[in-house]
Amino acid sequence: ARGSGEAPDAEIAVIGGSGFYSFIEDPQEFRLTTPYGEPSDAVAVGRVGGRMVAFLPRHGRGHEHPPHRINYRANMWALRSLGVRQVLAPCAVGSLRPEHGPGTLVVPDGLVDRTSGRAQTYFDTGAVHVPFADPYCPVGRGIVVKTATESWGEIVDGGAMVVVEGPRFSTRTESQWYARQGWSLVNMTGHPEAVLARELALCYTPVALVTDFDAGIDAESAVSQAEVFRVFSANIERLRGFLREVVRALPTERNCLCAHAHDGIELPFPLPGRH
Ligand code: ADE
Repeated sequence: ARGSGEAPDAEIAVIGGSGFYSFIEDPQEFRLTTPYGEPSDAVAVGRVGGRMVAFLPRHGRGHEHPPHRINYRANMWALRSLGVRQVLAPCAVGSLRPEHGPGTLVVPDGLVDRTSGRAQTYFDTGAVHVPFADPYCPVGRGIVVKTATESWGEIVDGGAMVVVEGPRFSTRTESQWYARQGWSLVNMTGHPEAVLARELALCYTPVALVTDFDAGIDAESAVSQAEVFRVFSANIERLRGFLREVVRALPTERNCLCAHAHDGIELPFPLPGRH
C-alpha cells in the first residue's frame, strides 16, 4: 500500500539484492528524495517481530538499475533519514573457493574495491576520513553468525569480498588472480554501499549467498546471469525467514565502531536522521 504523509521512523533496514523484492509483510511504501537524487525505488516500512524496518530493493522492483548505475548515495541517505541505524545487506556473490559452493551463506569480514568511477563519498568538502579497516559491523556480523548456526545450518564466518565494477563478470584470468590473493567472494554491489554506510555512522552487515563458482574456479564453465538468478530465487524464501530472525536479534542500543565513526571528526554538514 502507498503510505500517506510522512514515512514513520524505522531503526533497521534491509537492502535486498537480486530478486529480493519484498521483506516486510503488509508494508507502507514511501517515495523519498535526497540531496543526491532518488533511491532505487520506493522504501517499504513496517514491523518485523516488533521492530520497525525499512526495505529497499537495491536494483529497483523491476531490476532496472544495474550494479554500476545504482544511486548508492541516495539509497543510504534515504534510509538514514528515516532513523535507520543498522543495515542488513543480503547479496548474491560468486565463490572464489572450491569448498564454498552455491547455496553457502557467508558473512565476509574483508572488502577489496575493484570498482571504478562510482560516487563513493558524501564528503567532497571538509576533512572527513572515516576509519574503514574493518568495513562491517562486528555486532551485526556476530548476530548473523550466531543466528545462522542455530537455524540456517552451516555458515562461513569471514573472508574477503572483492567488488568488481561490472556489469560484466570477471575474466578467468582476473578471477584466478583474485583467488590467488586469498580472497573468498566476488560481487558487484558491496562497494560503495558499505563505505557510505560507515560515512553515515550506520552499522552495515552483508549476508552473502553464493550463487555460483566464479570463472577462475570452475574449469569447464563460466558463471551466467541466469544461474545467479536461479540460485538466488531458489534460496529466497529461506533467506527472508532467516533475516527476519536476525532482525529480532539485533541490539536496540549501539556501541560498536560504526556508531563511533565520526569521533574526533568535524562534519561539514549535518546528517539526516530523526534521532
Ligand atoms: N554476483 C553473483 N555472482 C557473481 C560473480 N561470479 N561475479 C560478480 N558478481 C556476482
